[in-house]
Amino acid sequence: MNPIYTTTLTDWVPSIPAEQSAALLAALESGHVLYCPQLAFQFSPAEQRFLDPAWSNGKDKNISLEHDGAPLKGMLGTTDEVATLRGAVLRFRTQAIGLIETLFPAYKRNLRKARTSYRPVPVEGRSTSWRKDDSRLHVDAFPSRPNHGERILRVFANVNPHGVPRVWRIGEPFEALAQRVLPRIPTPLPGSSWLLHALHITKQRRSEYDHIMLNLHDRMKADLEYQAQAPQVTMSLAAGSVWICFSDQVSHAAMSGQFMLEQTLHVPVDALAVPEKSPLRTLERLTARALVV
Ligand SMILES: [Fe+2]
Repeated sequence: MNPIYTTTLTDWVPSIPAEQSAALLAALESGHVLYCPQLAFQFSPAEQRFLDPAWSNGKDKNISLEHDGAPLKGMLGTTDEVATLRGAVLRFRTQAIGLIETLFPAYKRNLRKARTSYRPVPVEGRSTSWRKDDSRLHVDAFPSRPNHGERILRVFANVNPHGVPRVWRIGEPFEALAQRVLPRIPTPLPGSSWLLHALHITKQRRSEYDHIMLNLHDRMKADLEYQAQAPQVTMSLAAGSVWICFSDQVSHAAMSGQFMLEQTLHVPVDALAVPEKSPLRTLERLTARALVV
């Protein structure tokens, strides 16, 4: 399967025929990266000074906005400077959410809007451990935020002002990955989900689905032979482009690049056009049991 589906979108509020929207939805839900090389997020002339890693506070991984009314986190600067960059991040947030709601009206009512992040720091040299090393192929899964199968939909924009692409590796389809790794994943220890929650390590009880997804994430990253030998393609995501994918389904690795905006959205499995293609339903089919109870 070619994991990249290139679109001709040029507008954040695109006007496209229903059949084109359906084709994009089918590609997205079957594990493609929707690549939009003609769609760009623009920093205004007054905002362009923020295309500099010196605005990062150096402690947080990214500069981020939790929700519409929240303050910007992770940035150094005066009140005015923070407000100006926050305006740019908020504009990206509005455009990214509008894009998804316009392209996929069926998601609109069920979309849970999460963090927006601005990443001015180069990809190279950011990781502090193999588990946090996003230059290793992985599917997204969050240790402290169990999601019980809810999807992780992400919109990315490369805003590099020097024409530098963001380079990703994209690995094998989710089902092939799951078939390869599932036999090595042990069942969770009895009581471990309750204990992690009681100790506030997780924000809610970790379902068996979350346990498997975290194991997929970790076992992929820990296996250097898998990293080298797994079926994969390298993709150059141009400066001034946008791409969209379900990052809990698409095996991905960020190899290089600098200056990116990213919007995270969550979609319930039941709101998908084809829930059977989701990681939850795929894993339930392969294990022949319910993984969220
Ligand atoms: Fe990731």
